[in-house]
Amino acid sequence: MTEISQKDLEYWLEHVRIYANNGDVADYIPALANQQPEINAVAYYPIDGEVLYAGQSEYTFTIQSISKVITLALALVQHGESAVFNRVDKEPTSDPFYSIGTLEVEEPAKPSNPMINAGALAVTNMIRGRDSEEMVHEILKLVRMLANDESITYDEEVAKSEFETAFLNRSLAYFMKQNGIVTGSVEELLDVYTKQCAITMTVKQLARIGAVFANDGRDPETNNPLVPSHVARICKTFMVTCGMYNASGTFAINVGIPAKSGVSGAIVGVLRNKGGIAVFGPALDEKGNSVVGIHFLEKMAQEKHWSMF
Ligand code: DON
Repeated sequence: MTEISQKDLEYWLEHVRIYANNGDVADYIPALANQQPEINAVAYYPIDGEVLYAGQSEYTFTIQSISKVITLALALVQHGESAVFNRVDKEPTSDPFYSIGTLEVEEPAKPSNPMINAGALAVTNMIRGRDSEEMVHEILKLVRMLANDESITYDEEVAKSEFETAFLNRSLAYFMKQNGIVTGSVEELLDVYTKQCAITMTVKQLARIGAVFANDGRDPETNNPLVPSHVARICKTFMVTCGMYNASGTFAINVGIPAKSGVSGAIVGVLRNKGGIAVFGPALDEKGNSVVGIHFLEKMAQEKHWSMF
């Protein structure tokens, strides 16, 4: 089995750095608008070895939409498949991640999948807790376990900045509340959602989360189950079909691994039975995926013949 070396990571990152300015940083969340496109980092966390990294690997960023995989796993553990898929469908969509359009044409207000914003809001709404603080605590507990780091938390400034400007996400949530998909306080839901998106980590920590999924939900060091294998399988399947939004088909052809992106510029990828890969580069393409991240993963998959297809 071909493995990744430190030199591979350095070489690939060097090769794709030229794309660092070929996109725009997300500015619809004001606190993300000042991210420096030149900051790039990558880490590979093998399930049977030491973490490897290149670039500014200690730089911390918010995980944004990558959190949707984690809240999906948590909701599936807490409520089971049928309850979750009563609220959200399992189908990819060609609409952008923030789209409200299909909520009107599909089954009343049922989002297409848990990776778009509407679907993620519906899933977050299911997380157990008496209030938003307890719900955020539940999410952080799982993130800390997956990344094996108790110090992980969310960035209050980014969370507040998104909370104050999340008019579209509020609209999605209110539309779903009107139709019974979302229950309870929309403001509390937005509080939890913006905090989960603002969870902060480095590529090394994110790659470890990828490694847990690569190991079918088990801790890469101890082999203890952290997420049931059937839940890990569902999450990885959504990463393939919807993880890169309406660029998921192209990504599946060009790279061919389960992956999830976030508008901060992070992408986590899963190499089954091998390890987790995390890339960071804040400039985004028009679909909201990191330009450096996509080029990096394309280069890696092509050189190592790691497409799963
Ligand atoms: O809800 C939002 O718009 C952001 N907090 C997350 C979106 C996101 O990361 C989409 N990713 N590519």
